[in-house]
Amino acid sequence: MSDLASDQAASAPAWPTLAVIVPCYNEAPNVAPMVARLDQALIGIDFEVIFVDDNSPDGTAARARAIGAQDHRVRCLKRVGRRGLSSAVIEGALATSASFIAVIDGDLQHDETALPAMLAALRGGADLAVGSRHVEGGDAAGLASPFRTWLSRTGTRLAQTLSRTTLSDPMSGFFMIPRAQFERLAPALNGQGFKILLDLVLAADGRLQIAEIPYKFRPRLAGESKLDALVLAQFAGLMIDKTLGGALPLRFLAFALVGGFGIIVNLAVMAALRAAGLDFFTAQTIGTIAAMVVNFELNNRLTYRIVRLKGPLYWRGLILFLLVCGLGAIANIGIARTLYAENTAGLLAGAAGAVIGVVWNYAVSATLVWRRA
Ligand code: GDD
Ligand code: MN
Repeated sequence: MSDLASDQAASAPAWPTLAVIVPCYNEAPNVAPMVARLDQALIGIDFEVIFVDDNSPDGTAARARAIGAQDHRVRCLKRVGRRGLSSAVIEGALATSASFIAVIDGDLQHDETALPAMLAALRGGADLAVGSRHVEGGDAAGLASPFRTWLSRTGTRLAQTLSRTTLSDPMSGFFMIPRAQFERLAPALNGQGFKILLDLVLAADGRLQIAEIPYKFRPRLAGESKLDALVLAQFAGLMIDKTLGGALPLRFLAFALVGGFGIIVNLAVMAALRAAGLDFFTAQTIGTIAAMVVNFELNNRLTYRIVRLKGPLYWRGLILFLLVCGLGAIANIGIARTLYAENTAGLLAGAAGAVIGVVWNYAVSATLVWRRA
């Protein structure tokens, strides 16, 4: 790790030793206590704090800037038009020149007093120091419910298998890493969702020497957790992406999954209308339109949640989507017919039509319907 050593030597006089990256969304009441606690915990360590805020409506960024006006070690990186814990951490980490980077939640659930032990571990040669709730001395009491506990356990097992590590808390969002190491891994990061540590460990592919530092996960005092069903879907996406070796863009996978669900909607509506006595053509047309509307809604909420269309743009998007997918459907049938006429096996022809249809829908709706993404 010679370039790491030279990095540190070069940074010694002017750059802080440690940058603490604090991803925040609606954490205004926690900003000042966070700085005060870091100040206490990091006595004797030259550090800076970077609050990475995604333009929270509660004024989190303004609080951080107000403190920064008095204390130049406190910075705020404000992002607009985007959301996401992992990407916030990545951008915060890339915005510092400190020798070491720590990541800690902005809601005071992580125990900042573990930071000096993490730094010591890195100085002792570890490539990554992870705050763990599950090693001796750690505690996950702050998890809100038995369901959260179960989720955390299941996710942990899955993540351990895929990342080929024995990391006891791969879901942790509390860790420290040398900046040079982070920059090396950054281009391989997926960046979606909540699990930046897991993302790093997956990117490193089992090559990191990891130190685990126990800490007690505290209950949240102010504000609320942002973990929801979408975050879980993104976690699943991260795992699928890893399994496929990043061969397909995650957005495309989400789009294709939604499309698969649309086929079920299509068939169900058609069956119901046929049972109600409608003719085949009418039932098929209504079924297709219903599926497209459901697909639009799901893609808008899941696949493209970050650039979700609202108000008049929603209706404009819906109409465009219906046109795009309508053309896709026609192309789909046309391609299947042509291939079928050329004597390709029927099933294969149908599959080719479907694949080309999905790719067409994805390509055109990504550039036309959800253009800002
Ligand atoms: N910038 C930004 N953008 N920050 C965000 C976003 C976002 O979209 N979503 C969440 N955050 C911030 C929160 O404000 C908080 O400081 C931190 O990220 C963690 O979010 P919480 O909503 O408090 O997460 P949690 O308590 O459910 O989850 C924690 O525990 C997990 C382990 O089970 C986090 O520490 C996770 O990182 C950890 O993996
Ligand atoms: Mn939290």
